[in-house]
Amino acid sequence: MIRKRSSLILCGTFLFVSWNAVLVLLLWGRTPQGQLGNGPRDLALMPTSDVVGDVIRMAESFESELGKQKEILSQILSHQSLWKPRPNRKRPKVNAPGQPVIPILVIACNRVTVRRCLDKLLQHRPSAELHPIIVSQDCGHADTAAVIASYGSKVTHLKQPDLSDIAVRPEHKKFQGYYKISRHYRWAISQAFRNISHSSVVIVEDDLEVAPDFFEYFRALLPVLKSDPSLWCVSAWNDNGRDGYVDPGKADLLYRTDFFPGLGWMLLREAWEELEAKWPASFWDDWMRQPEQRRGRACVRPEISRTLTFGRQGVSLGQFYDKYLKYIKLNSEFVPFTKLELSYLKEETYRSNFDKEVYGAAVVTYEDVKQGQLTGSGPFRLQYSSKDSFKVMAKNLGIMDDLKSGVPRTGYRGVVSFFYRGRRIYLAPPPGWTQYDPTWS
Ligand SMILES: *[C@@H]1O[C@H](CO)[C@@H](O)[C@H](O)[C@H]1NC(C)=O
Repeated sequence: MIRKRSSLILCGTFLFVSWNAVLVLLLWGRTPQGQLGNGPRDLALMPTSDVVGDVIRMAESFESELGKQKEILSQILSHQSLWKPRPNRKRPKVNAPGQPVIPILVIACNRVTVRRCLDKLLQHRPSAELHPIIVSQDCGHADTAAVIASYGSKVTHLKQPDLSDIAVRPEHKKFQGYYKISRHYRWAISQAFRNISHSSVVIVEDDLEVAPDFFEYFRALLPVLKSDPSLWCVSAWNDNGRDGYVDPGKADLLYRTDFFPGLGWMLLREAWEELEAKWPASFWDDWMRQPEQRRGRACVRPEISRTLTFGRQGVSLGQFYDKYLKYIKLNSEFVPFTKLELSYLKEETYRSNFDKEVYGAAVVTYEDVKQGQLTGSGPFRLQYSSKDSFKVMAKNLGIMDDLKSGVPRTGYRGVVSFFYRGRRIYLAPPPGWTQYDPTWS
């Protein structure tokens, strides 16, 4: 749109200038009215013997005419803001050719509320070409299928063909749902990568609502992910991103984390090829968090979540939703990530800055933090030295206290960064941390 309009204006300006140049030529060539009838017309157009004088005259009239043109053009320029469409910070259009396509894969089953997820994706999507939406539906639920079908060609509707029950060992009977989810993920992701022009995919579930800069975030992080083998995903989610636990003034802040967050995450084809071969029968997310799969790699996650879960019934725990997920703050301010310098996320740089920041922070006690007795603006470091001390402090301060394969949610090198009573707190192991203990759970 913007490009089309600018080229139109350029074209118009060019015509305007050319027309004036033609006018100048004609006027210059024209003799005064009275002389016109006195001789052959071509005489008037013929240069006089004083060729040098003519050229100078011509140059002078051009000069003055060009001066006028310059003035007009600069006036046009100074009023540019009036005719240029107001830059819409919420939805910049991305149309340049040669830009990477990042498809969005929506995992759906039997929730008709997938509508909310799709509506938000379509609302915030900057380009249909660069972000095709693929909805993969499992479960064969007719009402949900009808909702997805109502979007017509705006989304690609895939249906997972194998709806059979999965044979599980008796004590896992109650986990049948988790087996089906795992089967569906494998099928759906491999479908998304079946298209060879897709080198990455962003996976969201049918109960996620996305923030205005969701697409901007993933577009900006794709080159970061591709260029850093110590990263294996980019997630839109902060597990401790509840209101009050994030710095509202730091919507642009990003972290590396050793904990696979999921909930709106980008994966590259190479990582998928590695995972697909050994994809688990159930509990795929916790499986991703095991050292055999993670292999020391980190994900990028934001300070303020770019996804929000609006319903966690079905297979997942409703209680967990009521206690934590419901209060996650969804980012509302559009951050132009593609225009920001993100090289600070590179492993070496990030690690050294992070260590300095965390271990340079003043050590405080749990009581000081809890009772709001900290002086100064922070940041502060709260130290834990055992699984139990981590859990007790995390629980009492209201952050996630569970560990998967020894990694606390949002943790990076054992450190959990969160906001508390307006100050930055790092819940951190003692200096000199080297590795996670997978027996911590
Ligand atoms: C593959 O993806 C591209 C870009 O999203 C799309 O134009 C094309 O139609 C897709 N091809 C197939 C076979 O799905």
